[in-house]
Amino acid sequence: MIRVSQPTTGPEELAALERGLEMAYFGHAANVVELEKALGEFLGAAERPVVCVNSGTAALHLALACLDLMPGDEVLVPSLTFVASLQAITAVGAKPVLCEVREENLLLDLADAERRRTARTKAVMPVHYAGNPGDLEGLHAWAGERGLRVVEDAAHAFGSSVGGRKVGALGDLTCFSFDSLKNITCGEGGALVCPDAETARRAGLMRGLGMQRPQASLGGPPSRSTYDVVCQGWRLHMSNLNALVGLEQLKKAPAFFARRQAIARRYDQALGGQHGLARLPLDYQRVVPFIYTLRVLDGRRAGLIEHLRSQDIETAVNYPPNHLHSLYQGLGGAPLPITEKLGEEILSLPLHCALSDEQVEYVIDKVGEFLA
Ligand SMILES: Cc1ncc(COP(=O)(O)O)c(C=O)c1O
Repeated sequence: MIRVSQPTTGPEELAALERGLEMAYFGHAANVVELEKALGEFLGAAERPVVCVNSGTAALHLALACLDLMPGDEVLVPSLTFVASLQAITAVGAKPVLCEVREENLLLDLADAERRRTARTKAVMPVHYAGNPGDLEGLHAWAGERGLRVVEDAAHAFGSSVGGRKVGALGDLTCFSFDSLKNITCGEGGALVCPDAETARRAGLMRGLGMQRPQASLGGPPSRSTYDVVCQGWRLHMSNLNALVGLEQLKKAPAFFARRQAIARRYDQALGGQHGLARLPLDYQRVVPFIYTLRVLDGRRAGLIEHLRSQDIETAVNYPPNHLHSLYQGLGGAPLPITEKLGEEILSLPLHCALSDEQVEYVIDKVGEFLA
């Protein structure tokens, strides 16, 4: 089976894990700090500290916790996203207000968000679908004029750029995921990029159960008796083992990004003009694609999924609209007709660095065969 997504690791990650096991510090230790520094350098924004955590969901949770939201405060978020975006909002007691996306790029529709904005709206969570940050500067300007905080769900967008700067290098709070399928992986992991040192200090405390420990204990003998508990927190820290994997992946990131872009370009070239499909017009000079998502028109998606499965090709739907899930039906705001239509059309084809050129051509052939 050609998988729709999978991690790419090699002897370097294995050797790093062996080193980590020998060190026998598996919790928050020196390599986590090293990864935070390395990510900061990669992003090119020294004034924006990075706080590593154990998942992208944890990064979103922590970002929202930094906003001190009150019960009933509202966060604007597209319905077309992974459920983690919503669960992070409800985890801090706030209310997700589900918005439409724009048909042409599957990104938050600001005009719709504006209609849904109320006096309780405190933040907006754009989701950089497929790695595309869209007009991020415009979104920040829109939010700034309305006094809204911005928590970017950049789970898909590690490596993408906007206006010559990396996603994460500008704006307010940016959240990345390094789970097993992402543009780089730590095994599991995530990172929160903070707007200033004070936010990073608070986020650092909250990721570790609110415990304040002397910095000197990092990577050395644990100081179990010398901590104070100063705020509500959670167990969100990244394991040193995951950080070691992430450090190796970061070295490979340029090659990973180039391969993902090359595959997406090839799909665009071969499938772009295909009758019955609509592609997302992404600029691969600045977007590192995490998924390759098409719209399958004329009600033919289920047939295409089945045809590809019969040819040993896995596909995915990223994502079933959240307002249709049982838990969120009571949120109000439905119907979201554009999102619902897209929810029935979108389909992601295999995209990952372990795909060979032959496999990419095979996928293209099989899609064409079905649509012919
Ligand atoms: C849009 C989006 N947000 C958040 C997450 C959560 O990241 P993680 O799986 O690392 O918790 C994901 C993961 O796939 C995602 O796709």
